[in-house]
Amino acid sequence: MTRINPSILAADFVNMQAELARIATADFVHVDVMDNHFVPNLTFGPQMVERIQATSPVPLDVHLMIEDPERWAPGYAELGAASVTFHLEASADPISLARRLRGIGARAGVAVKPSTPVEGLFEVLDEFDQVLVMTVEPGFGGQSFMPQTMPKLRLLADEARRRGSSVWLQVDGGIGESTIAIAAEAGADTFVAGSAVFGASDPDAAIASLRDIARGAHRH
Ligand code: DX5
Ligand code: ZN
Repeated sequence: MTRINPSILAADFVNMQAELARIATADFVHVDVMDNHFVPNLTFGPQMVERIQATSPVPLDVHLMIEDPERWAPGYAELGAASVTFHLEASADPISLARRLRGIGARAGVAVKPSTPVEGLFEVLDEFDQVLVMTVEPGFGGQSFMPQTMPKLRLLADEARRRGSSVWLQVDGGIGESTIAIAAEAGADTFVAGSAVFGASDPDAAIASLRDIARGAHRH
């Protein structure tokens, strides 16, 4: 299964309703929450995300680039986000937090920055519904894909297969027509794309094209 999740970080924030309507064929809308502490950029919080939830034609995939996710992440699950992903580097107790998110009814996701190892996740892979391997340093859209993150993705994909896990493997950052096949071949099944979708004249056509390329490149 190949999923394309456009990131509204690349959308026009003051025309959000119209921007959301442009990506109605997406699988999820990727919502980047940044607190200017975990990353050097600031976007929006629960109040804005609640309005996006009420307006979006597709379910929400919330990516929290924030400190103290224990305090804030459950609120995003409670407002109805389909998935809530917090950063491993920011969490004091990732397993307990994932269980809380699942208890509220959201898919629980854990994200790792490009230089964070993933081996520690292997034993607890079942605690998560998705693992997000950042393919840029988190904080900004429009950066270049980092191919050096692919060995880590392969390790995760191999481990998931070995364990018969159904965990989704997501990539985020610099994903576009020239890079998505690399990530798909390494084992990703869920692709976040900001500028490649919202920068296109026809976002739905861009989504379709990304999906085709990823399907063609997938390992199986
Ligand atoms: C970066 C964000 C990404 C960003 C991706 O910190 O997590 O979701 O929007 O943007 P592009 O696809 O433009 O690299
Ligand atoms: Zn993101």
